[in-house]
Amino acid sequence: MMMSVLGLNITILGLGPVGAPMGDNVPFDVIMYNEDDEVMEATIANVAIEVRSPESGTMEWITPPLSSGLLNGTMRRKLLESGELKEQVITVTDLKKAAAEGRRIKCFNSVRKEYPVTLKC
Ligand SMILES: *[C@@H]1O[C@H](CO)[C@@H](O)[C@H](O)[C@H]1NC(C)=O
Repeated sequence: MMMSVLGLNITILGLGPVGAPMGDNVPFDVIMYNEDDEVMEATIANVAIEVRSPESGTMEWITPPLSSGLLNGTMRRKLLESGELKEQVITVTDLKKAAAEGRRIKCFNSVRKEYPVTLKC
């Protein structure tokens, strides 16, 4: 969905709940990304996508590094420290590819904890 915000044409990367009715295209949150098209975070949560590890071949979760311009959230830090998440740059293309391939996407913050989302764009 293209939208004009403050005179800039931006692509809205909407997030919807998993299992929302088909055709329900109203997002409950959006993904922000920086001028290099690196995914930052949602408005109230950090975000992670599932990728296949090139080393082990198993699925693992990655979340953008702080250098992409996001909040140093407490839940994010906890998940990084426990090894449940790794930091890796996620481009908008990476995010769309993950959604198209059916890989999981999740958001998390210290209040809502972790919750699965779908990409609507
Ligand atoms: C993120 O926050 C933690 C805890 O406050 C702090 O130890 C760490 O240095 C922060 N990281 C950056 C890059 O600011």
